Order: sequence, then C-alpha cells, then structure tokens
Amino acid sequence: MERVVVGITGASGSIYGKRCIEVLVSKGYGVELVVSEVGKKVFEYELQIPFNRFVSSLPEDLVNVYSPEDLFAPISSGSYPVKGMVVIPCSAGTLGHIVSGSTVNLIHRAADVNLKEKRPVVLVLRETPLNRVHAENILKAIDVGATVLPASPAFYGRPKTVEELVDFVVDRALTHVLGRGLGLFRGWTL
Ligand SMILES: Cc1cc2nc3c(=O)[nH]c(=O)nc-3n(C[C@H](O)[C@H](O)[C@H](O)COP(=O)(O)O)c2cc1C
Repeated sequence: MERVVVGITGASGSIYGKRCIEVLVSKGYGVELVVSEVGKKVFEYELQIPFNRFVSSLPEDLVNVYSPEDLFAPISSGSYPVKGMVVIPCSAGTLGHIVSGSTVNLIHRAADVNLKEKRPVVLVLRETPLNRVHAENILKAIDVGATVLPASPAFYGRPKTVEELVDFVVDRALTHVLGRGLGLFRGWTL
C-alpha cells in the first residue's frame, strides 16, 4: 500500500484537508496524518465537527494519526517509505518554517525529510494578499523542490457547489503528489 503524509495547518480551508484524506482513503492509499494545534482549532471552527470525532471516523487500517509534537513518529525519518507529502491547507507560518529548515513540529520535520529524499512535497498555500516575505518564501520553496499550489480553484468547469471547488484543488494537489489525477473534476475542454 502506498502511503501519503497529510499535514493540516491553521490556515483557513480545513475542508480541503478533510476531503483530501477522504479521497486518499477511498482510493486505498494509506494516510499519515498530522494536524497542527491551530489546525485542529480551525478545523473545528470551520467544519463544526469535533476533530476527535473525525479521526475516529477514519479507517484504522489505512490512517495513522500523529501529534504535531511527536518528533519520534516514523514520518520524522526519511527512511520511512511514503509516496510524498501534502500540506493542505498550508499556512504562511508553516511555509516559513519549511523553507527555513526550522523543524519545530512534525509537519515541518516530515516536509524537511521528504524534501531531502526528493519526494513530492505539495504546499497548498492559503493566504491572500501576499506580502514580500510570503513571496520570497514561495520562491525558496520552489527552489528546494516543493510544489506551491495555491488554494485557488478554477471556474472553467462551471462548478455549482463548494464541494466541486474543493475537489478541484484536492485533485490538483494529489496529482502532484501521486503523479496521476484522480478524476475529481472535469478537465479543461472546449
Ligand atoms: C480562523 C483562522 C483562520 C486563519 N487563516 C489563515 C490563513 O488562511 N492563512 C494563514 O497563513 N494563516 C491563517 N491563520 C493564522 C494561522 O493559524 C497562524 O499563523 C498559525 O500560527 C499557523 O500555525 P500552523 O501553521 O502551525 O498551523 C488563521 C487563523 C485563524 C484562527
């Protein structure tokens, strides 16, 4: 079974992270999940679901959940085999930690080791507008091999629901982690 590290941070857009996990699990991928402390609070605020209830709804055989403080977790090591990592949504703060190499929590550390192992690391950044620090950090992230994928859905598929907008971003992000699209949205056709 292929496994993907999923980090959820305290940027707005917890719905992207939740859907990303659900899609991965539905396709039979294993998920190594880390949610930052603020990420849990924003998740509960935006989705109105207790985080622990969400975790208990996930299949135990496919999903491992780690505390962001648990730097002894297997995903702290580059030798732990995963396909890649997605941080969804990714705050400007976590972007800054990742590009500076300051591995304060397990999301930063897992991104750090996946980058050194040259595996896909996709950062679904959610912030607007961008200041110069954000823009410089985006450039640094691209320079060190990460994919910066703004949470910026397209409208050419004429989406009717929030779920369709979310699926666009989740599919684009997972395409870059897995190397293949999951068919969650209709691609561009005339
Ligand atoms: C409701 C709420 C929404 C937020 N939305 C964003 C956001 O969209 N982008 C962002 O960079 N930070 C956002 N923040 C701020 C981050 O949560 C904050 O910078 C935090 O330190 C990020 O830490 P983390 O990356 O470890 O989760 C938001 C905070 C709250 C409480």
